[in-house]
Amino acid sequence: MCGIVGSVSQRNIVPILVQGLQRLEYRGYDSCGVAIQRHSAEGMALQRARSTSRVAELLFQVEHDQIQGTAGIAHTRWATHGAPAVHNAHPHFSHGPGGHAADRPGRVALVHNGIIENHEELRHALQAQGYEFLSQTDTEVIAHLIDTLYQGDLLVAVQAAVKQLQGAYAIAVFCQAEPQRVVGARAGSPLIVGLGGDAGEHFLASDAMALAGVTDQIMYLEEGDVVDLQVRGLRVYDRQDRPVQRAVKTVHAHSGAAELGPYRHYMQKEIFEQPRAIADTLAAVTGIEPSLFGDGAADVFQRIDKVLILACGTSSYAGLTAKYWLESIAKLPCQVEVASEYRYRESVPDPKTLVVTISQSGETADTLAAFKHARDLGMQHTLTICNVATSAMVRECKLAFITHAGVEIGVASTKAFTTQLVALFLLTLVMAKLRGHLPTTGEATALRNLRHLPVAVQSVLALEPQIMAWSEAFASKHNALFLGRGCHYPIALEGALKLKEITYIHAEAYPAGELKHGPLALVDAAMPVVTIAPADDLLEKLKSNMQEVRARGGELYVFADGDTRIDNAEGIHVIRLPEHYGALSPLLHVVALQLLAYHTACARGTDVDKPRNLAKSVTVE
Ligand code: M6R
Repeated sequence: MCGIVGSVSQRNIVPILVQGLQRLEYRGYDSCGVAIQRHSAEGMALQRARSTSRVAELLFQVEHDQIQGTAGIAHTRWATHGAPAVHNAHPHFSHGPGGHAADRPGRVALVHNGIIENHEELRHALQAQGYEFLSQTDTEVIAHLIDTLYQGDLLVAVQAAVKQLQGAYAIAVFCQAEPQRVVGARAGSPLIVGLGGDAGEHFLASDAMALAGVTDQIMYLEEGDVVDLQVRGLRVYDRQDRPVQRAVKTVHAHSGAAELGPYRHYMQKEIFEQPRAIADTLAAVTGIEPSLFGDGAADVFQRIDKVLILACGTSSYAGLTAKYWLESIAKLPCQVEVASEYRYRESVPDPKTLVVTISQSGETADTLAAFKHARDLGMQHTLTICNVATSAMVRECKLAFITHAGVEIGVASTKAFTTQLVALFLLTLVMAKLRGHLPTTGEATALRNLRHLPVAVQSVLALEPQIMAWSEAFASKHNALFLGRGCHYPIALEGALKLKEITYIHAEAYPAGELKHGPLALVDAAMPVVTIAPADDLLEKLKSNMQEVRARGGELYVFADGDTRIDNAEGIHVIRLPEHYGALSPLLHVVALQLLAYHTACARGTDVDKPRNLAKSVTVE
């Protein structure tokens, strides 16, 4: 999703800005741009380059046009208001009021992440003052608003402008009249400040990864903050325009430029990294103790009598899997809510609830908003399961479990999901132990099974050649159904999401028992039905559901545990997994489904790591 980089320095900062954009590419974008203040014989001028191609193409333009400067801002855009097009790409300029704006030099340059909800109202007011709009974006209104409020001090103009904005924003802005000054502001969207060592240079970015290798001294701006970057120093002001100090942390952000090694795509690499990611997530686990979830967890866990999980997409399916575990193993009621729904619906709050957010990035706007909504309703016991230790989610929640999946670059989440499941299974065990539902032998067995998981996952990865053979058949399909029961129903949902996300094949998942209540009408010879068949208590029920499909001519593709006695037959294709892995079985079955989606996408020739219309980190609503 959109990314920001900005800087003031005494050296040419353009290479750092473009490099920062390259580090943010993994988030997904459809256009990009950079703007600088240029010193020329006639004085200071604003100059920019924008592209609807990759950042590499922007770099080519920048070099060709010799764009160089000591202060600048840059952006990757994921379109919300206005199509992906050069005129909608950031940075946006305000050329001041009056007709034929494009013929006049730019006065204000601005990049923006987030969504301005009152942009139409502001646009009408600015048009009435003579401002001409050259884009369809909500962002352009902010540039003109700052221009109209500017009276010689950019900081003051930005402070006044943000007070008129409704919605979410992180902005970086500079103007033609004030050399080497960049002002940033945030509310609802993340923005960080990077402190440079030498040459008094300072940076702004939407996340620390953009500055990896440039500075590790990071200041996280708070809601409503405005920051004034100048070579001689930087100052932060709060929502009431009072000068404030914000802590500086040392953050070792990964550059994101991980090597692909022998893999064709990051998604394939990340699927194969799962044994290591799971082992790393378990590395610090010496026993089933509340302290795994942070200081004070024991006290918090004693005070709650139910769990509310808030998440989006794949992370919500991890939550749904955990619901089965928490209720069956720990006997703890658990409710799972899609964050974008929960934040707006009227619900019944209970202060004795543990609110658990699950997020790979820790920056997902809907999940953050849902969490804040729950907290505002009086639910103060909060835990996040998150892959980014420095994220907003970790900073906001009282308790945290950091998964150690490592940087996930593919838009389709894989290793983040399985490590979330590891964390949620640990949470289940801790809750079960605290409530007297985990005998000592049960604890030892559970720990042994967890520690053996990397090996078990490896044996599923070894099925790749057989799964590739299936993917040839799937590549020509238009639809697919995924079936699962019990804690494998969320895995069916995740398998269908993976397939639709990267292959663009329409896929739906159902609890197998729901088939005859509607979806069976879709089943014919053209509909592949992917079935997750663990050798658990529901196996015989599932076999009946499979018969319902066969009786209608449907073709079954079954991932069956070794001990299910489901064999290849006419219309039934079987790939055999290891023997049933008990409660942790979802972690094995999902890996097979990831491989199926991945190889089908390869066979269809889609952009696996950057599927169309999607972004890695969804920082707008
Ligand atoms: O970073 P988060 O885990 O909060 O992201 C949530 C979803 O946007 C994410 O899981 C999304 O569904 C993935 N693209 C799925 O592969």
